[in-house]
Amino acid sequence: MPVETSLTPLTDEQRAIVETARAFAATELAPHAADWDARAHFEPSLVAKLGGLGFLGMLLPEAHDGLGLDTLTYLLALEEIAVADASAAVMMSVHNSLPTQMLLRWGTPEQQRRFLAPMARGELLGAFCLSEPDSGSDAASLRTQAVRDGDGWRLTGTKAWVTQGTHAGVLLCMARTDTPEARRGAKGISTFILTPDLPGFGVGKKEDKLGLRASPTVQIVLDDCRVPGDRLLGQEGQGFIYAMQSLDHGRLGIAAQAIGIARAAFEAAVAYAAERRQFGQPIRDFQALQFKLADMAARIASARALLHATAAAKDRGEPITRFGSMCKLLASETAMWVTTQAVQVFGGYGYVKEYPVERYFRDAKVTEIYEGTSEVQRVVIARELYAD
Ligand code: CAA
Repeated sequence: MPVETSLTPLTDEQRAIVETARAFAATELAPHAADWDARAHFEPSLVAKLGGLGFLGMLLPEAHDGLGLDTLTYLLALEEIAVADASAAVMMSVHNSLPTQMLLRWGTPEQQRRFLAPMARGELLGAFCLSEPDSGSDAASLRTQAVRDGDGWRLTGTKAWVTQGTHAGVLLCMARTDTPEARRGAKGISTFILTPDLPGFGVGKKEDKLGLRASPTVQIVLDDCRVPGDRLLGQEGQGFIYAMQSLDHGRLGIAAQAIGIARAAFEAAVAYAAERRQFGQPIRDFQALQFKLADMAARIASARALLHATAAAKDRGEPITRFGSMCKLLASETAMWVTTQAVQVFGGYGYVKEYPVERYFRDAKVTEIYEGTSEVQRVVIARELYAD
């Protein structure tokens, strides 16, 4: 497969980053991905390795030890990582899109100095804590409560579905700073910068998942957790807006991950259809197979084209909420559809772990769920259609 998997013309720098990501994926991820999936094993050494490549600070300025790259280049690298290992890709996506960007946009110089360079170097992994056991799509209904305690705060509640919460050194956590007597809805939520050393911070239940098994997903339990005053991010009451604005960006990363999963399944199906013979000929000589492969290629190319156009719009400073949701919606539904077709191309062999397509199929599903379900993406798109 040539470097250009898309219509987007690449600069020499983008081509070099893609080559680096592809080489890393081929040597450090692809040989292990099935085993890590089978054992639900998160490989901690990947954090330092990805950090060493600069892939955990792709969007951070060089002043914070980042690569200072544009959004498209970041998404190109992310797709390459996802082709080999969707679990490694979500680590890269969450870290680059959510906690680092939140600190960069709203952190004080002191907060940035403390956290960003170690995050860019892969010494500190970031996580994002928005959902709770009873608050998913209705994110503003979260209940984790922060109460003032002298100069600082005390946080109590359970955050759920926290990607890499087991290994995170810094977690951007949304909690209520309004009072039960005077609830302020979305305006009653603030963002706190948590670290696992805080008294009352605990890692709770680890989920046993269908896919993305090499990416640990846990609850974070805050039991009267004492948080110093200088750990409030930005302005009190703005935490929900910060989370939504960050998810606008995060959804582009998940779209790139979904496209990478779809591409992996598509490439496996193309290769298998050439080598598998039935009724005296390679199965790719049947037009039914050709149509299936053609549809897979067309859907992947269109999801990617929208993603790359949206990345360019973002870097021009244009609002991308609606298009970000479209990217996530189309890419994730493409990934689910393409991986389903790939299992079908493989027939019985698609249903067993000897071949990778069943893993792609399992990994694809979560892209329709996390960072906002497909239904939430449709809500966001529809609301903007009717906005004044
Ligand atoms: N950018 C800026 N501001 C935004 C915004 C955006 N994208 N979306 C909403 N806001 C603002 C609104 O303008 C509003 O402010 P005003 O009152 O000043 O106008 C405020 O936020 C409240 O917005 P809504 O009234 O639209 O809020 P809502 O309660 O109706 O919810 C929702 C909207 C789109 C459904 C939202 O709750 C949502 O996105 N839910 C899904 C949450 C989600 O994606 N969770 C994923 C968790 S992370 C994860 O998956 C784990 C991981 O690690 C991978």
